Amino acid sequence: MARLTIHPDRRISKIQKEIYGHFSEHLGRCIYGGFYVGEDSAIPNEKGIRTDVVEALRRIRIPVLRWPGGCFADEYHWMDGIGPKANRKKMINTHWGGVTEDNSFGTHEYFELCSQLGCEAYVNGNLGSGTVQEMSEWVEYITFDGVSPMANLRRENGHEGAWSLPFFGVGNENWGCGGNMTPEYYANEYRRYQTYVRDYKNPDREEDLKTIHKICCGPNVDDYEWTKGVLDTCFRHCESRFHGNLDGLSLHYYVHPEGWRIKGSATDFDENAWYKTLSKAYYMDELIRNHSAIMDSYDPERKIALVVDEWGAWYTVEPGTNPGFLYQQNTIRDALVAGITLNIFNKHSSRVRMANLAQTINVLQSVILTEGADMLLTPTYHVFDLYKEHQDAQLVESSIDTGLIGPDAEYRVPWITESVSEDSEGTLHITLTNASSTDACPVDVNIEGRQVSGASGAIVCGEMHEKNTFEEPERVSVRPFTDLRTENGALSLALPPCSVLRLSVKTR
Ligand code: AHR
Repeated sequence: MARLTIHPDRRISKIQKEIYGHFSEHLGRCIYGGFYVGEDSAIPNEKGIRTDVVEALRRIRIPVLRWPGGCFADEYHWMDGIGPKANRKKMINTHWGGVTEDNSFGTHEYFELCSQLGCEAYVNGNLGSGTVQEMSEWVEYITFDGVSPMANLRRENGHEGAWSLPFFGVGNENWGCGGNMTPEYYANEYRRYQTYVRDYKNPDREEDLKTIHKICCGPNVDDYEWTKGVLDTCFRHCESRFHGNLDGLSLHYYVHPEGWRIKGSATDFDENAWYKTLSKAYYMDELIRNHSAIMDSYDPERKIALVVDEWGAWYTVEPGTNPGFLYQQNTIRDALVAGITLNIFNKHSSRVRMANLAQTINVLQSVILTEGADMLLTPTYHVFDLYKEHQDAQLVESSIDTGLIGPDAEYRVPWITESVSEDSEGTLHITLTNASSTDACPVDVNIEGRQVSGASGAIVCGEMHEKNTFEEPERVSVRPFTDLRTENGALSLALPPCSVLRLSVKTR
């Protein structure tokens, strides 16, 4: 039994739509075959970009897409990916399978993709193996509208106007694949590189060009020393001035049920692995609290966002697939990982203002899988579909009275998690997860000071191993949830096991 209490008049923070963002890397079949098939493909496409994928991502209102990596970003030289395709330099994708990258998807193709998706751009620059000049010129190429060498080059390559670049990452995982740096060394590099990430003023189009938010490489998991070391060095000698030069600090955290080396199967798991996985997903809450507390001591007004720009479940690759391509299936367990994590992000939305699930298509915890011309939507996709109502809504105070469950004391997880927002029309959106693999949970919903005048529900649920396959692509999907009781203005329901639910509630 759980009791949910909602205080709709206590509004906490806006849930930035970017929390529902995604990540795409030149890795396996994410870009090639996933997003991009080329204009000559028999698969329906517009300018080489798959039409089915664009339509599916538009349906969940994808707000922002991070690109080109990941580890790939610190090896990527953007000039290799512009101009006539036949002349583009080929490179080895050393991180991901050692395959040849032909650079046929580059800057122009990425911005075309963002435009078709109707989403914002988040480009990750190369600090690990690139130069300050290279990074600076990329930003000039993308954003400058006047006469300049890079803006002219963009025009020669067929794009007249500047693009909008709201988010720019200055390096990726520079504690690891992005150069194996110490926090102090990276932070000094950050200070230097970001100086030349210019915010060009385009007088004719100022209204549609947002300021670039600069994102600094933050910690891996619980590396609090990195968070402290980077902020310490960034703020040294220029405490007040550095605000504005550092808009976001990234955090990367992946759930590996059996640890980083063994990982564990995406589809063949027992009850212990189910609870282990979900408790590891719930660990995100502790990570955000602890990193935020460190950030608070440098930035008490919370001007700097914590940007969780890589998160999700990372399992052993599907048998028979290239180990460097990180292709994995997606089950109801992943729906729970997503539901639990997104509730945590919502609840921390005063600090977490962007997050990017890794990685949109065919890689890690994807929302879409493709096989030639076929496409399927994963259980994780359907959770994003349920939660899209939280985008840009107001988080309101809520709490749930529930116990911890799981057979192993080390890996217990809250039976139910929740978050609640109010949209601009006054509808309350309540998202709930039930982590029990076997038991439904009765939930009483009490909305302080208000009476329920109408409610509807939508649910993603199933047996814990259930998944969508190309033979049965709609086994898991969003279904209406009608088992709701309203009495004396309050709401009650029985939340099925292994489920993620959204209730949309009207009140008076
Ligand atoms: O998402 C796969 C990889 O995980 C990314 O390239 C890297 O940033 C992280 O280690």
